[in-house]
Amino acid sequence: MATPSLDRPALVQRLRAAGCVYAEDEAELLIAAAAGSATALTDLVDSRVAGRPLEHLLGWAEFCGLRVAVTPGVFVPRGRTALLVAAAVAVAGPAPAVLDLCCGSGAAALVLHGRLAPRWLAAADIDPAAVACARRNLDPLGVAVYQGDLFAPLPARWRGRLDLVVANAPYVPSDAVALLPPEARLHEAPVALDGGADGLAVLRRVAAGAAEWLAPGGHLVVEVSAGQVAALCAALAGVGLVPTVMRDDDLEATAVTARRPG
Ligand SMILES: C[S@@+](CC[C@H](N)C(=O)[O-])C[C@H]1O[C@@H](n2cnc3c(N)ncnc32)[C@H](O)[C@@H]1O
Repeated sequence: MATPSLDRPALVQRLRAAGCVYAEDEAELLIAAAAGSATALTDLVDSRVAGRPLEHLLGWAEFCGLRVAVTPGVFVPRGRTALLVAAAVAVAGPAPAVLDLCCGSGAAALVLHGRLAPRWLAAADIDPAAVACARRNLDPLGVAVYQGDLFAPLPARWRGRLDLVVANAPYVPSDAVALLPPEARLHEAPVALDGGADGLAVLRRVAAGAAEWLAPGGHLVVEVSAGQVAALCAALAGVGLVPTVMRDDDLEATAVTARRPG
């Protein structure tokens, strides 16, 4: 196995040859992460060249201007999810009660903690690795992270009282998971990606749960692909929620807010 040189150009060349588009930036980040240890740098570069996500190697990802801890196997927060966060902030009223459902690393909750002044904020995920990671990010803020299936682990007193539920749930159709880049397919948990036959299996259950857990006038905010909007809006309307679609072409992102009437 080749030993990477501390010589930056050689390192950049090796990363570029392995397909890293932002090889210069990645080289700087990996050198910083190695903290002067040639052995550590060798391990990091070998792992990166072998296809492990940069964020899993660094132990953090940048999301909406914040550094979010990300551990192996846990979904790396994507830049496009900034639209979901912006949509949530736009519909949130004063001192909202907020839930980050399917929270992964807890990235959305972390950002919403700083942008809203929630009277209650919690996060939840079914994957123990994601819950542990989210707790690393959210424990210091006093934000509780629950483990379980969708709304099931939440304290019952919040049923019908939530003002805002954000849920970047898995929405990749099962057949399309195999087409994802290896960084996602091989290094993120299947439960974080696979949204069932049409990609909307989890989101339909999120919609049904939100219709019960939202307060009248409260909002659900989710992310989907552009091609799923019509089916998702029909599902939201089917449980009595009123959807509004937001699109950001620069982020290549689609978010849907859905209001519980009342
Ligand atoms: C696409 S990832 C998004 C993670 C995070 N919201 C983000 O944007 O970085 C989807 C997350 O949903 C979680 N998840 C999948 N099915 C779930 C379920 N039934 N109940 C709770 N969480 C679930 C996965 O474990 C994963 O962390």
